[in-house]
Amino acid sequence: MSKIIRLPGLIDSHVHLREPGATQKEDFTTGTKAAIAGGFTQVLDMPNNPVATITPQALQEKIDLAKGRVYADVGFHFGASPKSIQYFKEVADQVFGLKVYMNQTTGDLLMEDDQTLETVFSSWPHEKIIMVHAEGETLEKALALAKKFGNMLHVCHVSLKKEIEAIKIAKKDGLKITCEVTPHHLFLTEQDLKRLGSFGMMKPPLESKEDQEALWQGIVDGVIDTVGSDHAPHTKEEKNGEKPVYGVPGLETTLPLLLTAVNDGRLTMEKVIELTYTNPRKVFGLPEQKDTYVEADMAESWTIENEALQTKCGWSPFTGMKVTGRVEKVVLRGQVVFDGKNIFGPYGQIL
Ligand code: DOR
Ligand code: ZN
Ligand code: ZN
Repeated sequence: MSKIIRLPGLIDSHVHLREPGATQKEDFTTGTKAAIAGGFTQVLDMPNNPVATITPQALQEKIDLAKGRVYADVGFHFGASPKSIQYFKEVADQVFGLKVYMNQTTGDLLMEDDQTLETVFSSWPHEKIIMVHAEGETLEKALALAKKFGNMLHVCHVSLKKEIEAIKIAKKDGLKITCEVTPHHLFLTEQDLKRLGSFGMMKPPLESKEDQEALWQGIVDGVIDTVGSDHAPHTKEEKNGEKPVYGVPGLETTLPLLLTAVNDGRLTMEKVIELTYTNPRKVFGLPEQKDTYVEADMAESWTIENEALQTKCGWSPFTGMKVTGRVEKVVLRGQVVFDGKNIFGPYGQIL
C-alpha cells in the first residue's frame, strides 16, 4: 500500500554545484537534476569555486553558464574576501547572501584576519544575510562580529553541542541569528568514519553521538532553523586520492532521510516542511513558485544506491542505507519535472 503525501517544492540554501572550474565533480545540469530527483525546486549555490565568486564578473559568468541548463531554480551566494569587499554594494541585489569562510575548507576563501573580518561585517548591506562557516571556537568570533555590527547571521552546518548552546544564548540575547544543520551530521557520527573512510570526510567533520543528539534536540527546541544538504560532490578518484578532499553529496538523500525520521517518530511532517521550505524561504527571502509541489510515498521502503543517483560524482555516504519515504513526482510551475524515474526539462530559472 502506498501513502502519498504532498509537500511544497523544497529549498536547499546550501549547495556546491561546482561550475565553473570543477565540472569533473558536478555541473549546473547534473546538480540541478539531483536537486529535482531529491524534491528540491530551489537551490542556492556557494561561491568557493576554483575561481571564486568574489567579483561581479565571476557572478555574471555563473549566471550566464546556468541559463537554460538548470532543472531547478538556482540562486547564488557571493564570497567574502579582502578583494570582494569593494563589490558588496554592487552585487548585493543579485545574490541571496554573503558566505564567509572562517575555517579552512575546500577553496581558498579562508578569512582569519580580525580587521578584514570587521570590514566585511560592517560593509555587507545589513538587509542581506551573512552566512558563516565557523566551527567550534570560531563560532564565538562570528557571533561577536554579528553582535557588534548588527548583521543578520546564518550559521551553516552546526555540528557540535557547544555550538547549539552558543546559538541558543545568542538567540535569547536578541541577535538576528539563524542556523542550519546537514543530514550527514544528523544521520552519521564519527563511528561511521571507520566504515566510510574518506567518503565520510567533510568540514565540519562527523562528531560524537552526544553532539548528534544535541542536534536533534536543537530541532525539537527550535534552535535549528533550516536543513541544508551542503551538497559538496567530489569524484571517487579525488576521494580515493592522496590528498583528502572534504565534502559529501546530499541533494538526493536529504528528503528520504527526513521522511524516514518522520516514519520513525523522530520528526513531524510539519517540522520537515519548516526546515526545508518555510524557514529557508524566510531566511533568504526566496520568491514563491506557483503550482510547484512534491509528491512522496511515505510507505515506500528502498535502499539508497550509488548507481541510481543523478549527481555526477556517482556516490553517497548513505549508500546501502535502507530508508522509508520516496520522491514519486515533482511538479515545477505546473509541469511534471520528475515522475519517480525520469527527469524532464530544463525548466529551471535563475533567481
Ligand atoms: O566538506 C566541505 N566541503 N565543507 C565545506 O565547507 C566546503 C565543501 C566543498 O566545497 O567541498
Ligand atoms: Zn562550510
Ligand atoms: Zn558548503
